[in-house]
Amino acid sequence: MIHYNSDTRTFNLTGQNSHYAMMVDGDGRLLHLAWGPTPNPVTGHNRFTPPGQSSFEFQGQRHELPAYGPISVHEVALKVSFPNPSAPDHPIRDVRLVYTGHEIEENAQLPSSSSSLRTPHSTLRISLTDSLQPLIVTLCYRLFPAYDIIERWCELTNTGPDPLAIEKLDFAALHLPPGSTEVATVHGAWAAEFTAQRHVLPVGSFSVGHRSVQTGHAFNPFFLANRPGHATEESGPVYFGALAFSGAWQLTFEHQHSGDVRVFGGYNPFDFALTLPSGKTHTTPAFVCGVSGEGWGGASRRLHAFIRDAVLPNAAPRPVLYNSWEATYFALSHEGQAALARKAAAIGVELFVVDDGWFGGRRSPLSGLGDWTVSPEVFPRGLQPLIEEVHALGMQFGLWFEPEMVNPDSDLYRQHPDWVLHFPGRPRTEARMQLVLDYGRPEVIDHIFNALDAILAAHDIDFIKWDMNRNVTEPGSVAGKAIWRAHAAGVYGLMDRLRQKYPNLALQSCSGGGGRVDLGILRRVDQVWTSDNTDALDRLGIQEGFSLAYPARIMEAWVTHEKNHQTGRVLDLSTRFDVAMRGVLGIGSDLNALSEAELADFAGYIAFYKRFRHVVQTGDLYRLETLAEQGASTWLFVLPDQSEAVYSVAVHDHLIGRHRAPAALRGLNPTAVYTVLDRHDRAIAHLSGADLMAQGIPGDTFGPAGYSRTLHLKIIK
Ligand code: GLA
Repeated sequence: MIHYNSDTRTFNLTGQNSHYAMMVDGDGRLLHLAWGPTPNPVTGHNRFTPPGQSSFEFQGQRHELPAYGPISVHEVALKVSFPNPSAPDHPIRDVRLVYTGHEIEENAQLPSSSSSLRTPHSTLRISLTDSLQPLIVTLCYRLFPAYDIIERWCELTNTGPDPLAIEKLDFAALHLPPGSTEVATVHGAWAAEFTAQRHVLPVGSFSVGHRSVQTGHAFNPFFLANRPGHATEESGPVYFGALAFSGAWQLTFEHQHSGDVRVFGGYNPFDFALTLPSGKTHTTPAFVCGVSGEGWGGASRRLHAFIRDAVLPNAAPRPVLYNSWEATYFALSHEGQAALARKAAAIGVELFVVDDGWFGGRRSPLSGLGDWTVSPEVFPRGLQPLIEEVHALGMQFGLWFEPEMVNPDSDLYRQHPDWVLHFPGRPRTEARMQLVLDYGRPEVIDHIFNALDAILAAHDIDFIKWDMNRNVTEPGSVAGKAIWRAHAAGVYGLMDRLRQKYPNLALQSCSGGGGRVDLGILRRVDQVWTSDNTDALDRLGIQEGFSLAYPARIMEAWVTHEKNHQTGRVLDLSTRFDVAMRGVLGIGSDLNALSEAELADFAGYIAFYKRFRHVVQTGDLYRLETLAEQGASTWLFVLPDQSEAVYSVAVHDHLIGRHRAPAALRGLNPTAVYTVLDRHDRAIAHLSGADLMAQGIPGDTFGPAGYSRTLHLKIIK
């Protein structure tokens, strides 16, 4: 509920278990008052100017949107240059925003059109105006009470005759309660995404971000924060936030000498420029934020449910996928793919995906990117006969694209060498022998739309794997510095147009694995490729970091070869399945290299997964053990009505001689009796929820590295 008290000029945003408050002060400034879990949100911490204490101390107020002008020495979310007619060389760099009005709207249409009915929400729009300069800033707060989440963004309108130069712009600034200095973020690289780090901020500023046109592997735009020592996995107030943006982004955490902690999230200020023409409005993407009273786990569960209900384009459970990349790489043929498809269907796969190499002259990474026509060399009869065969086998058909790229050795590049990001006369750095198309050019976007549309119109394609395999260098674009935003906008626009024209088409976001995962792309895609690293033990850490913000419902996880292609490590089939069954299960092994007995094992696991996938894909996640603390990763998914759960343990490292107690379960119905089923559907125990939450799974103490187990729990009475 959102309430405005006109006597005190206070706004109160009340979530199911949280509270957020702001006020308009005597000078018309919008100040932050309180934020936290109920019944005791953190209040009364707003600092006002201590009169006469020190001539240096006049910037203590918590402005909802700190702007450069009254604030100059601390971080700001907004900096604008206004033209100065009396001294054109001295633009006015001073923004002073005062409250001019607000409106509250219930259940307005959400950007991801199909999801607006799934969860109630209210939107507060507060107008702030500079009394001298022609700028209106509308701060927007969309409250989703069920998750204690507020989606925040701002809209900037130029009401004057001249263009305005926006020099810095965040989507929102968050005021955490003083002392909330322990921050968790993730960092990584190709094949090592989502490595979690948690540390206490010193006084100063700490930033994570990316200077490219996709979200990136190096960091991911979300955080969790708390007071050191005041939160655990399942207890204590934890604040969190995530950006809905796939362009160049930055999150900055500012810990001031006063103890204040602020989080700024928005456009990366490096190489940033935004010109706001007369009469125009710029709407930023959103900075989604929230608070949990139940520790880091509670923060993750809120984000997961919010993403499932209010971000993703649809709620349907995701099918079991087969991807032939690691089985055949570029050695594609109709017969080879059809043979794999027959075996995939026989073991229970529901979606068969042909990866890179089906088009143009793409027989290796050296050539062909950009030429989106089916290669007659690879598929002499075209692709449709294979698609028909896959459909006749009862599976959906998926296809790989990399629509933002071009190989210099391609017809597209030969025809349009200017269509790539570059500075005239300067080198064009190739990475993986490819260059990035200039999505600042509308004609490039139209060309790509038409190319993809032609393939989709002529074939019955159910799923696209949308890949993006390099960072940007030499960012010369016809859009100028706006390319850091325009590229992501171009990708979003293409995806939106395709989804509109082909409403049954599902999309996967991939950028060399998990390089484009954020709440902006998630409005348009059904799932993501988490990492090219499919080594189950490495995956435990990648998936643990991923799970801090993102739900299992989108986390594609494959079982691949016994000897892993990325790490060379040999792992049992059970470990590979137990780890992959924690997300959207996929298979990437060469099925032709497996014996009948091995294929039967695959089929057994896939059937097991199908019996409980609704629990993994829609349930609440409890991280019972974490790699950081226990060297093991034990996850429990529980359906919201507590009728079913999935327990999954995997030991990463275990010291001989150290006793490993079974992890106590959580979130079950204490008075109900659960049957505990193994993968053969055999009941191995009947225990009450209370027993399971006190003792864990009896006997689950064994634990050399690689030990793993998945169990399905169901209430029997
Ligand atoms: C990227 C993806 C892989 C695969 C290859 C194909 O690396 O992450 O899954 O699709 O491209 O070239």
